[in-house]
Amino acid sequence: MALVEFNKETCTKCGACIAACPGCIIIPRKDGFPRLFPGADDYCMRCGHCVGICPTDSVIHKEMPLEQCPLIDKKLGVSFEQVSQLIKSRRSIREFEDKAVPRELIQRIIDTARYAPTGHNMQEVQWLVIDNPEELHRLTAIGVDWFRSMADGDTPWTQQMQAILRMHELGFNIFLRNAPAVVVPFSEKSNPIAAADCVIAMSYFDLAARAAGLGCYWNGYFYVSAQSFPPMVEAIALPEGFTPYAAAGMGYPRYKYRRIPPRKNARIIYH
Ligand SMILES: Cc1cc2nc3c(=O)[nH]c(=O)nc-3n(C[C@H](O)[C@H](O)[C@H](O)COP(=O)(O)O)c2cc1C
Repeated sequence: MALVEFNKETCTKCGACIAACPGCIIIPRKDGFPRLFPGADDYCMRCGHCVGICPTDSVIHKEMPLEQCPLIDKKLGVSFEQVSQLIKSRRSIREFEDKAVPRELIQRIIDTARYAPTGHNMQEVQWLVIDNPEELHRLTAIGVDWFRSMADGDTPWTQQMQAILRMHELGFNIFLRNAPAVVVPFSEKSNPIAAADCVIAMSYFDLAARAAGLGCYWNGYFYVSAQSFPPMVEAIALPEGFTPYAAAGMGYPRYKYRRIPPRKNARIIYH
C-alpha cells in the first residue's frame, strides 16, 4: 500500500485534501481525483490534514488509520468569549497550596499541549517534570548561586538580582516560588525552530493547566540559568545536545483572582 491512498468509490473530488496538504504532495489527476506525488513518502509531514479534512473518510493514510483520528466533538466547542476570558483571566500564579500535583494530571495536560503546532510538524518537544521536594530544594539553592553570580558587576540584571537576594535572605523563595512542580519543555539545540516550538508548547500547557484547576507562572530564571549556568545545566541533566527553552512553576493556586487588570492597547499596523 502507498503511504496515502484515495477511495474512489466515496471520494467526491471536492479538492479539500489537495488544498490542505502543506507539503504540496497531493495533486489532482486529470479526472479530478487526488493522487499522491511519486516519491512523496519522504516529504509527507505526517500532519494528517488530508485525513482530518476529508468529508467522506476517503483518504487512507497508512500511518494514520481512522481509529487514531477521532471525530471532532462539536458539543465540546468553545465560544470566542470563553476563550477570550480564559486568556485574559490567566495570571502568573506564584503562591501555591502545600499540595502535590498528581502526575496523571500533569500527563493529561502534556498530552493536550503536545497538539500545539511545531515547525514542519516535527513534534520534537520533550518535557522535564521536577516534582520531588528535595530536588526542588536543591535546584533552588543552585538558583540562588546563579542569582549571586548575576548580582556582581554592572549589568542590566544587577539591581534586580540584588533585590531578589535580599528577599531570599528574608526567607522568600523567588527562584521557584515554592511551586510543587516545575515543567520544562526542552529540545535539541541544533534544531533552529526548537525555541519557538517549546515556547508555543509551554503556552498551550499554561492555558490547559488553568482549565484543569491549576496555576502556573513562567519561570525565566529557571530556564535561562538551565541554559547557561554550568551547575544548573549539570543539575537538570538533560541528554547531551538538548536545552530548555521555557519553564513554568505550577501547583494549586493559594488565592483566586477576581478582576482582570488592564494591558497595553494593541499596536497594529495594517499594511
Ligand atoms: C518568558 C517569560 C519569563 C518569565 N519569567 C518569570 C520569572 O522568572 N519569575 C516570575 O515570577 N515571573 C516570570 N514571568 C511572568 C511575568 O512577570 C508575567 O507574565 C507578567 O508580569 C504579566 O503578569 P501575568 O502573567 O499575570 O499577566 C515570565 C514571563 C514570561 C513570558
